[in-house]
Amino acid sequence: MMYKLAFVGFGTVGQGLAEILLSKRELLSQHYDFQCSVVAITDIHKGSIYLKEGLDLERVLATVRETRRLDGYPGATVGWDSLKTIRDCGADIVVEVTYTDIETGEPAISHVRAALESGKHVVTSNKGPVALAGRELVQLADQKGGSFRYEGTVLSGTPALNLALETLAGVEIKEVRGILNGTTNYILSEMEKGKGYQETLKRAQDLGYAEAKPDADVEGWDALAKILIIANLLMGGNLKVSDVARTGITGISLQDVETARQNNERWKLIAHAWREAGQVRAKVSPERVPTKDFLAGVCGVTNALTFGTDLLGEVTIVGPGAGKLETGFSLLVDMLSIHRRDVSAGGA
Ligand code: HSE
Repeated sequence: MMYKLAFVGFGTVGQGLAEILLSKRELLSQHYDFQCSVVAITDIHKGSIYLKEGLDLERVLATVRETRRLDGYPGATVGWDSLKTIRDCGADIVVEVTYTDIETGEPAISHVRAALESGKHVVTSNKGPVALAGRELVQLADQKGGSFRYEGTVLSGTPALNLALETLAGVEIKEVRGILNGTTNYILSEMEKGKGYQETLKRAQDLGYAEAKPDADVEGWDALAKILIIANLLMGGNLKVSDVARTGITGISLQDVETARQNNERWKLIAHAWREAGQVRAKVSPERVPTKDFLAGVCGVTNALTFGTDLLGEVTIVGPGAGKLETGFSLLVDMLSIHRRDVSAGGA
């Protein structure tokens, strides 16, 4: 089955997905009967290209590598803005991978709405729209007959959300506790080796883990967005950003890390969602976790999430929480889910 795709945003994650689509093209076609043609790519910094017949992704990636822009791609229509691209490019699936703005969710919320309104499916790893308007957007997708999928918003391609939504369907999630931000976990792990905060943050940025604004990671906003997604979309909560108490890791010194070590503890930025008096609640804060606790052993950019459930007790998933291919993969998984749904419904 052939899908036309449009990328809205073409930074690290978008390029990661493009690389995966190239390297897995044969496997996707042979094993899953999934073929795709990218008809449009639009990016606020790199320009916009549209080609009805489909873009050659190798050429797109080379153009971006050489010129840092898209619009040097030969023969494409250039200059469309993101909303025109979404509405007029004829794509079946819109890949929304613009930057996350946790205060407004924009421009991503408008992108997702426009795509769903015009009958398209949306896959995204952008936390803004899911954290701030997730329930509304899922409802809109249902009304319009499309899919809105967002696996990569939490733990990148590690299937935390699909685990809860699909594999654990039917159990009640009573509580969720985890390490949801790779950058801060990496910084805290490196501080244990005596490395300074600034030096380690810079390294996390170079490795492509950190958000565009360092505050988003180190002040706990990224972890807050993720626990909000879990609270509202997995646990049925209705929380806003202001309902979640948030403390980041900027107040933790090398001395604090050393003191914890001497007490057989490790600092971890813990995100927690739980049920209390009929309400779902959530918070993000650094905690001194005993080294015998499972989460204390989760180091570097790795993330982990423990679901406390009624039927299974605790179920924990551990894996990468950030990265170009790791997050690019989450978008592929979402597209294959859409494809499975289309196949079982009898057509695209
Ligand atoms: N900046 C995020 C992290 C990326 O470090 O976990 C994935 O959301």
